[in-house]
Amino acid sequence: MKAVVRYQYGTPENIRVVNMPKPLPNPTEVLIRIKATTINRTDCGVLTGAPYIFRFFVGWPKPRTPILGTDFAGIVEAVGEKVTKFKVGDKVWGFDDNGLPSQAEYLVYQEDKNILPIPDALSFKEAAACAEGAHYAVNFLKYVKLNPESKVLVNGATGGIGSALVQLLKSQGVHVTATANSKNMDLIRSLGLEKVIDYEKEDFTKLSEAFDVIFDAVGKSTFGKCKSMLNKNGCYLSSELGDGIENLYLPLITKLKGGKRVLFPLPTDIKGSMMVIQKMVIEGKFRPIIEKSFSIDQAREAYQYVVSGQKTANVVFEIS
Ligand SMILES: NC(=O)c1ccc[n+]([C@@H]2O[C@H](COP(=O)([O-])OP(=O)(O)OC[C@H]3O[C@@H](n4cnc5c(N)ncnc54)[C@H](OP(=O)(O)O)[C@@H]3O)[C@@H](O)[C@H]2O)c1
Repeated sequence: MKAVVRYQYGTPENIRVVNMPKPLPNPTEVLIRIKATTINRTDCGVLTGAPYIFRFFVGWPKPRTPILGTDFAGIVEAVGEKVTKFKVGDKVWGFDDNGLPSQAEYLVYQEDKNILPIPDALSFKEAAACAEGAHYAVNFLKYVKLNPESKVLVNGATGGIGSALVQLLKSQGVHVTATANSKNMDLIRSLGLEKVIDYEKEDFTKLSEAFDVIFDAVGKSTFGKCKSMLNKNGCYLSSELGDGIENLYLPLITKLKGGKRVLFPLPTDIKGSMMVIQKMVIEGKFRPIIEKSFSIDQAREAYQYVVSGQKTANVVFEIS
């Protein structure tokens, strides 16, 4: 089978597409013929081994597996003798933020891990794009209490996390203001947002409006800059640690002080997030945005594009 590999942590230049033996499922595993995966920011961490602490999860000192990947959508081609939840021909999707050898034509995966049937409404590409960003977005929302009166700002609404987050927020009926750049204005308005700020023309931290929650889904701001825009007991959440890893310790300091708070969600329960998204897809409340697709033979180019930070929402590999 064809697989996208790297043998050491490093840049996209280390990536090669090679032929490898097709894996065989053990008694509790399914063999999946992969149809699509995304190339996302977690994949970039799996490729580069950065931040360094991530290597303790994906392999230290070398990657645990040479094959890249974190998510998948495909068809079950064989099942181990003890598998009860899936059968040959089932369409399935899944995700693991500690890396999965899924950027290959075949993957073996434990039936009780993060794997679910693909809803009828979704293509393979769309199913793969429901995983990574949506999981982090669902986790962001576990940390805050919202009601239809809540006013929320999302910085970076066109990213993998941001584009999922605004859809989750809209489904809860809250008032959402979002930032995006000029080229994506139409895309972001299509998600039903009332107010969009072009971050190339206006600095959202200078807005005179107040918000109950500010989600920085691209980690480009700081609590210091956003604090004056938060209501009395408002919360600031970021997807990044911050330049001085302040988002790690500010949650404790701001909790002790009371009032405006910083929260830094550590994502957990991937299967739970997948079930939330699955339900929303079936109810017609969630649809992943896909910017572009690459073939598996364009793996290096695809990673170069995603690592460069230029991607919008989701970028997909069409594997077979
Ligand atoms: N905490 C966690 O567990 C976790 C997990 C995964 C990822 N992350 C981090 O979260 C961040 C976002 O991830 P992602 O997958 O959503 O990334 P992504 O899809 O690559 O997001 C990039 C988006 O950010 C937008 N953007 C770039 N500069 C901006 C700015 N100055 N202001 C507002 N928006 C800006 C871009 O919008 P335009 O296209 O409109 O320019 C683009 O759509 C990354 O830094 C990633 O490392 C954190």
